[in-house]
Amino acid sequence: MLQGKKIILGITGSIAAYKTAVLVRLLVKQGAEVKVIMTTAAKDFVTPLVLSTLSKNDVLSDIANNDSWANHVMLGRWADIMLIAPLSCNTLAKMANGLCDNLLMAVYLSATCPVVVAPAMDEDMWHHTSTKDNLKKLSSFSNHIIPVANGELASGLIGEGRMAEPENIVEWLDHFFLNKLELKGKKILVTAGPTYEALDPVRFIGNHSSGKMGIALAAEMQSRGANVTLVLGPSIITAPENIEVIKVKSASEMYEACISRFDKMDIAVMSAAVADYTPVNIASEKIKKNDDSFTIELTKTKDILKSLGEKKTDKQFLVGFALETNNEKAYALKKLQTKNADMIVLNSLNDIGAGFGHDTNKITIFDRGGKEYNFDTKSKQEVAKDIVNTIIKLLHA
Ligand code: CTP
Repeated sequence: MLQGKKIILGITGSIAAYKTAVLVRLLVKQGAEVKVIMTTAAKDFVTPLVLSTLSKNDVLSDIANNDSWANHVMLGRWADIMLIAPLSCNTLAKMANGLCDNLLMAVYLSATCPVVVAPAMDEDMWHHTSTKDNLKKLSSFSNHIIPVANGELASGLIGEGRMAEPENIVEWLDHFFLNKLELKGKKILVTAGPTYEALDPVRFIGNHSSGKMGIALAAEMQSRGANVTLVLGPSIITAPENIEVIKVKSASEMYEACISRFDKMDIAVMSAAVADYTPVNIASEKIKKNDDSFTIELTKTKDILKSLGEKKTDKQFLVGFALETNNEKAYALKKLQTKNADMIVLNSLNDIGAGFGHDTNKITIFDRGGKEYNFDTKSKQEVAKDIVNTIIKLLHA
């Protein structure tokens, strides 16, 4: 669940800071990217060198360092979550009152991501009325609080106030991201790849689609909690193991696979490059080169996206793609309308780094009302994130 998650770990001055070495190690092991910010007091309990080695990132501490400035605003925007562990009594009081006298506080006050704290202090401090009031304030600011544990304290006393164990903090984060999954429980149908229209037992009419974009989309949706069914044309790329894959060859097989499943779906994303025409006759034996010229009679395939658009209910969300070489915007908007889609993703073959075979793509999205969303050239994984974010935004619009 923490794979690829960006985490800022703020460490403050408490004896429990020594446990953050284990915490960072556990987070990194789970695939998270961790950037550590320490207060000056935290350095008395654990060294920046240990944490930079384990996090594989520089440890930040000062707003300004020689000639460089730590961009606290961008740090808060970079992170998926900001975790402050251990949270000392002093930093708790600063957070409750909006004080900004170090980098950690500057990042906290400008963070747009969720913030979670794991307090750590001796029992008497923990039970002080001001601590309780400050924690209430933190909750009222929508910060999350990981409960303290009961046990042996640095003072030698036994009681409440110990920082939650690193394993429990990781478990808390796991649950947090699991519950936050935006597409949790949604059933999504995705088509990807080319189709092959057979001419005879050895030949076919196909196209250059690799299926990379659709597979990246299916993986992104799955990682956000959706149940994805991927209808995949002949592609050499393998889909992630946790996705249900229906392998098809021709446009008519893809049509059958989609139409028979669509009723149960919440969302359908048609990213496949489906053949528009298919041979009227498929020779049962290999066609011999007896004549100087050879004519193939083709007939139109069924338009899958259009058929789903005709069946679509108000509760279903339909996404189409448009691959164009000219008059891109006009053609994309026409497809959006004629196929009754809720959103269309335009790829222009005129854009460098876009289209078949590339590892990158450049897209423009149009919603039902014709509103345009522009994106830069990015890896197909990043493009998949943009498409999924836009779907989620429009679902909640
Ligand atoms: N599509 C489909 N079934 C087809 C043809 C296309 O579902 N038989 C879908 C594609 O998956 C895509 C959208 O329709 O989501 C647009 O595909 P595109 O090839 O750009 O356009 P076409 O509708 O085929 O029209 P044209 O080839 O004339 O541009």
